[in-house]
Amino acid sequence: MTNPPTSFDPSRRRVLLSLGSGTIAALAGCLSGGSSSEQPSSNASDQRSPSPSAQPTSTLSPDERVRLPATTGQVAPVSGRSREAWLYDGTVPGPELRVKEGEVLRATVANELPERTTVHWHGVPVPNAMDGVPGLTQQPIEPGSTFEYTFRAKPPGTYFYHSHAGLQLDRGLMGPLVIEEDDPHVAYDREYTLVFDDYLPGEPQLPDGRDSGGAGGTGNGGGMGGNGMGGGMGGSGTSGGEGGMNGGMMGDSRPSYAGLLLNGRLPSDPPTLSVSEGERVRLRCINAASATTFRVALAGHEFRISHADGRPVEPVRADSFIFGAGERYDAIVAADSPSTWELRAAPIDGDEPPAKALLAYEGVSNGTPTPVQSIGRRLEYAELNALTPIEGIDGRPDRTFDPTLSRGGGRSYSWAIDGQTYPDADPLAISRGEHVRVRLANRSPVSHPMHLHGHFFQVGDAVKDTVLVPGRMGEVTFDFLADNPGEWLFHCHNLYHLHAGMARVFEYR
Ligand code: C2O
Ligand code: CU
Repeated sequence: MTNPPTSFDPSRRRVLLSLGSGTIAALAGCLSGGSSSEQPSSNASDQRSPSPSAQPTSTLSPDERVRLPATTGQVAPVSGRSREAWLYDGTVPGPELRVKEGEVLRATVANELPERTTVHWHGVPVPNAMDGVPGLTQQPIEPGSTFEYTFRAKPPGTYFYHSHAGLQLDRGLMGPLVIEEDDPHVAYDREYTLVFDDYLPGEPQLPDGRDSGGAGGTGNGGGMGGNGMGGGMGGSGTSGGEGGMNGGMMGDSRPSYAGLLLNGRLPSDPPTLSVSEGERVRLRCINAASATTFRVALAGHEFRISHADGRPVEPVRADSFIFGAGERYDAIVAADSPSTWELRAAPIDGDEPPAKALLAYEGVSNGTPTPVQSIGRRLEYAELNALTPIEGIDGRPDRTFDPTLSRGGGRSYSWAIDGQTYPDADPLAISRGEHVRVRLANRSPVSHPMHLHGHFFQVGDAVKDTVLVPGRMGEVTFDFLADNPGEWLFHCHNLYHLHAGMARVFEYR
């Protein structure tokens, strides 16, 4: 009844990577014709009676189709100890979806989970009905039903897709989405997609005991106690690793994770990124974690950051970068130093061992990998210069919001925007065509990766869709153009903060 064991098979990812500019059709073929052990052949996916419930959601005719079953299954990042996870197409991360810019992607999501679900295409400004927010942009997909998401893949960039229902993201329901540009502004010889994640073997829960269903109510009192998380971009990195809070949360913001994963693998068994001397390698880094901010560095090499949240920037050099849940950076690495080197992603607010990958030069014998010695010079937002700034937001905004980010009042675990906890929160009404300014002020000690659906925004000279607002009175201002009508969630991408109310809706017709 459960799926066959699914391993985090590195060869499979390499197969996907080697497709390079392959299409979803090729990908789908690869997956369905793939090696036997991962083939979910005689499990629930065959017994699912095709549901007629797929709403006719779009009149676009697809260039690429992919079937994305969401199932329960086993994963084993710790060898010999497989645990139940929730998976897209049998793996964590889910399969890498790749399309060319401008192509129409149709993803048929088949819900084989015991709960309702949705899929959100993080960062892609899709039409509102395709945005995957349950109860806001669509009815959630019932168990045994399917839903077709159809949208034109643009602009190009590094994205990911994930469940937007309850705490399902922290069970493993996420995967990378790459929209390939016709004409990249940086040259590279090969690329790797790196998905950073925090691994929770059990069922996610809010710290006051409310479960992933989110209906709440059973909260057995008990506040959070320890508020002493040191968040923020420049966070101290020392957190109380106390653990042992209700529901296993440590501090305010994260469960105590069993490990940090890179492409589904623990640092004890890191994935290998093979390179040849002289190559330029593009790393597509995706923070798909539920609650972890990472600091990423690569021993012996410098990053040339080429894209922020998928959007091209003037390449900028850095030894390390920090990114919060939902952010992405692409970096070009010049492979000019043959040896074996560690890429390391340490949690800013946690004490789990850093996630790792190995950069291994072909033809060089694998000695002991050289670890990251220092974090060197860290990328700052202020260094990011978007190649294509957002048009139509010069000058004074038509409307300005000044939301505060804080803990909610009351006894249960809650997080608020302007004192209100979603869904008990007023929508933010705007009008089509407006230049909207949002000035965020953080009145809590922890950082919040704030994400806007359906739009990119301008923050300084960068164009992003997720921005980390530092703790302890951190402030961030961003501007966007209201050019994609609908009801758009704006929220903290810390899954626990989101689920505890840290969200609002921008709405316009
Ligand atoms: Cu990545 Cu509202 O989501
Ligand atoms: Cu938050």
